[in-house]
Amino acid sequence: MWLLVGLLVSSMLPEVAFCMTRYYTFNIVQHNVTRLCHTKGLISVNGKFPGPTLVAREGDRVIVKVVNNVKNNITIHWHGVRQLRSGWADGPAYVTQCPIQTGQNYTYNFTITGQKGTLFWHAHISWMRATVYGPMIILPRRNESYPFRKPHKEVPIVFGEWWNADPEAVISQALQTGASPNISDAYTINGLPGPLYNCSSKDTFKLKVKPGKTYMLRLINAAMNDELFFSIANHSLIIVEADAVYVKPFVTNVVLITPGQTTNVLLKTKPYYPNATFLMAARPYFTGQGTFDNSTVAGFLEYEHPSDHSSNEKKMVFKPSLPPINSTSFVANFTKKFRSLNSPKYTSATVPKTVDKQFFFTVGLGTSPCPENTTCQGPNGTKFAASVNNVSFALPTTALLQAYFFKNSNGVYTTDFPSNPTNPFNYTGTPPNKTHVSNGTRLIVLPFNTSVEVVMQDTSILGAESHPLHLHGFNFFVVGEGSGNYNPKKDPASFNLLDPVERNTFGVPSGGWVAIRFLADNPGVWFMHCHFDVHTSWGLRMAWIVLDGLLASQKLPPPPSDLPKC
Ligand code: C2O
Repeated sequence: MWLLVGLLVSSMLPEVAFCMTRYYTFNIVQHNVTRLCHTKGLISVNGKFPGPTLVAREGDRVIVKVVNNVKNNITIHWHGVRQLRSGWADGPAYVTQCPIQTGQNYTYNFTITGQKGTLFWHAHISWMRATVYGPMIILPRRNESYPFRKPHKEVPIVFGEWWNADPEAVISQALQTGASPNISDAYTINGLPGPLYNCSSKDTFKLKVKPGKTYMLRLINAAMNDELFFSIANHSLIIVEADAVYVKPFVTNVVLITPGQTTNVLLKTKPYYPNATFLMAARPYFTGQGTFDNSTVAGFLEYEHPSDHSSNEKKMVFKPSLPPINSTSFVANFTKKFRSLNSPKYTSATVPKTVDKQFFFTVGLGTSPCPENTTCQGPNGTKFAASVNNVSFALPTTALLQAYFFKNSNGVYTTDFPSNPTNPFNYTGTPPNKTHVSNGTRLIVLPFNTSVEVVMQDTSILGAESHPLHLHGFNFFVVGEGSGNYNPKKDPASFNLLDPVERNTFGVPSGGWVAIRFLADNPGVWFMHCHFDVHTSWGLRMAWIVLDGLLASQKLPPPPSDLPKC
């Protein structure tokens, strides 16, 4: 009888009946981890590195109790989760919440709406995310399938960046001296640097496969400061999803993935047992002028023969070939291949065809003056800084969302963030002599449901460089990109309003521009920043206030009672 009622209810209300609540506890702890013959007290979740994989279905509610057992302050961000009317659970420190202090806890509570694929979670305060991160898998609803054949297996491949030192010491030293932070010592795949580093061959990720099957790799770039090229020797990959939205499938040998991006790829294994092992490898795409970690992380793709006892028999090892370090043209071609699947059955959003508000943002590096009676090690004795429209964004000592919600903005923030550069110049030409940025906590206010277009223009100040810009609270559509200076008269004519890719993170091309559109349908305060943590630390960040709409369903509810206090 109850079974019958259950069946009836579930067939009448499939969306409600199939959804469930997923409970997790994240204990922030410190434990010893050894890589490259170097042991350090690493901060992670539940003593796992990378941290635990969070699994949910579209439509599910996710409740994560985060308990801080370490000396550092912590917050967790669910990178790419739209957080519709749940901005209190978004996580960036001093933006949507005060940090969770030692011995305290906070429960993040949100529902996953209209998203499926791969995202990730990471700490969102200072450089804590260097070690505090893990995959987030959003499966389709129980009664739904993928828009491609169900893979034999699904495997998260998380790229990270390892410092032998404490990453918090690395960034605090850099901010003090004004110099660039020390570069990392290795990249990692699922926490393992692999055989191309000293003292590391036993710390190698191995993907064991069977012939003639399709595997889905959930690629996540959780590295701090580096876009990565990734490839598997003698195998091609089919890209099917980006940032938890399906895309039109396309084949590639090399994937470029920026920090903050996630993408699902299908790997078809060979129909036979090859007598060989295949290296999968990743190394940076780098366009800046400074130093960077130029090393290569590798793992193995191994075909497992059921009767293969001769594992010590020497097998051929094939290595993938990766594009040169600064292959901007490869990146431009590659990023243009991403197109929204654009099928009402699988995608929920469509690109805004008209625009209510237009913004033009310069993004790039700059300097700030050296404080009196100190010496600085940045460019010409100054300190490195970074800005959007020449504003280096200062985080307040309380949370912006709290100040906004309780109408206490006085002394916390202003709402005069420039919509356009105050002093236009030839952004990608000879850089101006004046490199100092201004400082402020300036925001932009958007009425509910504003349709927004933002053109982001890289500058050549202290070197043109690609900047992976990430927007909280929304996905945006990438309607155009190009090299050189954006031309507002000509370039909009070539915008793609048919099937632009929908993402939460996109690289502003080095010495070029990108145009994005989004609908401001989510009330709250939403961070936007470069997902290179070094640039975020230098101020390449800003925030949007999206006002409540008129209906109750368009308003941000009050904060949960355990929201941390500053
Ligand atoms: Cu993945 Cu604001 O961050």
